[in-house]
Amino acid sequence: MSDIDVLLQETRSFPPPSDFRVTARVHDARLQDDASMDPVNFWAREASELTWSKPWDTVLEWTPPHAKWFQGGQLNASVNCVDRHIHGPRRNKAAIIWEGEPGDRRTFTYWDMYREVNLAANMLKKLGVVKGDRVAIYLPMIPEAIFAMLACARIGAVHTVVFGGFSPESLRDRINDCGCKVLITADGGYRRGQIVPLKRNADEALKDCPTIEHVLVVMRRRSGVGDETFAEMQEGRDHWWHRLKRQVPKHCEPEVMDAEDLLFILYTSGTTGKPKGIVHTTGGYMTGVASTTKYVFDLKEEDVYWCTADIGWITGHSYLVYGPLANGATQVVYEGAPDWPEKDRFWQICERYGVSIFYTAPTAIRAFMKWGTPYVEKHDLSQLRLLGSVGEPINPEAWMWYHKHIGQERCPIVDTWWQTETGAIMITPLPGVTATKPGSATTPFPGIKTALLDTAGNEIGVGGGLLAITHPWPSMLRTIWGDDARYVDTYFTKWPNRLDLYFPGDGAKRDDDGYLWILGRVDDVLNVAGHRIGTMEVESALVDHPAVAEAAVVGKAHEIKGQAIAAFVSLRAGFTPSGSLRDELREHVAMKIGALARPDDILFSADLPKTRSGKIMRRLLRDIAEGRALGDTTTLADPSVVAALKDQYEAQE
Ligand code: PRX
Repeated sequence: MSDIDVLLQETRSFPPPSDFRVTARVHDARLQDDASMDPVNFWAREASELTWSKPWDTVLEWTPPHAKWFQGGQLNASVNCVDRHIHGPRRNKAAIIWEGEPGDRRTFTYWDMYREVNLAANMLKKLGVVKGDRVAIYLPMIPEAIFAMLACARIGAVHTVVFGGFSPESLRDRINDCGCKVLITADGGYRRGQIVPLKRNADEALKDCPTIEHVLVVMRRRSGVGDETFAEMQEGRDHWWHRLKRQVPKHCEPEVMDAEDLLFILYTSGTTGKPKGIVHTTGGYMTGVASTTKYVFDLKEEDVYWCTADIGWITGHSYLVYGPLANGATQVVYEGAPDWPEKDRFWQICERYGVSIFYTAPTAIRAFMKWGTPYVEKHDLSQLRLLGSVGEPINPEAWMWYHKHIGQERCPIVDTWWQTETGAIMITPLPGVTATKPGSATTPFPGIKTALLDTAGNEIGVGGGLLAITHPWPSMLRTIWGDDARYVDTYFTKWPNRLDLYFPGDGAKRDDDGYLWILGRVDDVLNVAGHRIGTMEVESALVDHPAVAEAAVVGKAHEIKGQAIAAFVSLRAGFTPSGSLRDELREHVAMKIGALARPDDILFSADLPKTRSGKIMRRLLRDIAEGRALGDTTTLADPSVVAALKDQYEAQE
């Protein structure tokens, strides 16, 4: 049975445990009902919980498809995450409890954070960064990554964080697309006991980044072999973080930011070869993430919260940096892999710090399942009270395992659907209110309006269709950096003459109870281990290799990663298929994009199946990659191509 069939037959339901419900921040359904009637009032109320230096004049100005929220209002994101906590009881509260992969630990109170962010902000100023400049951040999961983001926010610089697993070329393209002035990186980071040579990658990227004036380098490898000689420093351009820190003033006045001033750009994959710079602004984004963190995770003062995402992704931005810190949470931040040095590392961390809220991805849950329960049972997880899932559809089997073995049948699970573009959680249970069903993200968050539509724009009551968001929300992307036409075209032209309908690219189903079940992307975007990758990006990387004439990439169901990449490649004259060429092509993609995009399968073929009009038939390739019987091939230019491919694929398996 396919994953989708399993989802459609799921009937189990788990109401909030009564002791959880009694103390939950939201425990009756009214919040959801009132709010869904009037998003504007709901969001205005939520925004008023933030610290504004000047109140807004208008809540929403909606000129489809462009929205402006809280116009006239002024606030600073770093003030909301740090300064506002240092005058009361949270001053000495742990903000970040950090653990490095090798086992080193550092804890920062809100007061410590205040000092670090001020210093980092002054370092950027000293390097000439001013309001509106773009700053690239290419760092491991170390506290300085968070200081760097908040330091940018403090001085009004726009950060663009690039995941440390991306290649030099990917880093270069992102820096150049938005013209960054400064890059913040580190000598290295730890991953599965290995060192990721970030500075070396950065140097490679910077050979072709004319806008970069300075590089700020954090020394991560302070213990062991690390010393200042690990990174080659370019005189005049490169500066050690720990040295510059000693040369700057301790206090930095926060920049006054308009609600609609840019907070950050984060690149994500779309259906073309070029990643999109998703633009988020200050007031709306902060409102969305602060509100959802509080209600979705039922966050209380005494919680120990842990989101396992990397700051290189939107989940790290919203639910590791801005959301939890705006709420004055205590959170765990971990640098490395879940299976290093042993497969119980996450549970060891949960036990050591008494983690009470745990937020991770289905891919990780499926890996834990595979590794087995003994790794879990070794540890005391009794402090856990809420679990979350994000990034990809969670199959009911993984949901049940999470519920039973990690949540010990005591913790509600919030399966949260959202995207880089939405900035904050959109569809989710409210843990004190919503009865959950394994595999369903349930219903929209208060203030969020969605619909299921067919391709003509007709509403679907019960059944499957395309997901749409029908009312603007504060944390929505404002545009794509440098390409507003692409913004309009990608998200607001799915339904003709309906510039007010946002199309996220996902298909979903609604059941008789009104619950939504996200079925996954309906476009050419893959979701590999929770990482979003465009098929075109991988295809471009493949055809960049001298041996490749043409390439077609599809997603293939994978037990742990959700989807794996399968590539079909035809070679140029003079090249012949071989195992070593296959390995070389896989490495070529990893080198061009990053290891996360390395294809699992590469199949050589003299030809790729095309329609008579020359379009590659991906549906057929997916059928082949997933070993299904082939559907209708009559529209193909040459049906024998498919039969040959299928035989070859089966032989390879
Ligand atoms: O297909 C949906 C899937 O991830 C996509 C967004 O990817 P990204 O922008 O990288 O953000 C991931 C973290 C928010 C969506 O279009 N997705 C995300 N969360 C879920 C999901 N699919 C099903 N269930 C989810 N909870």
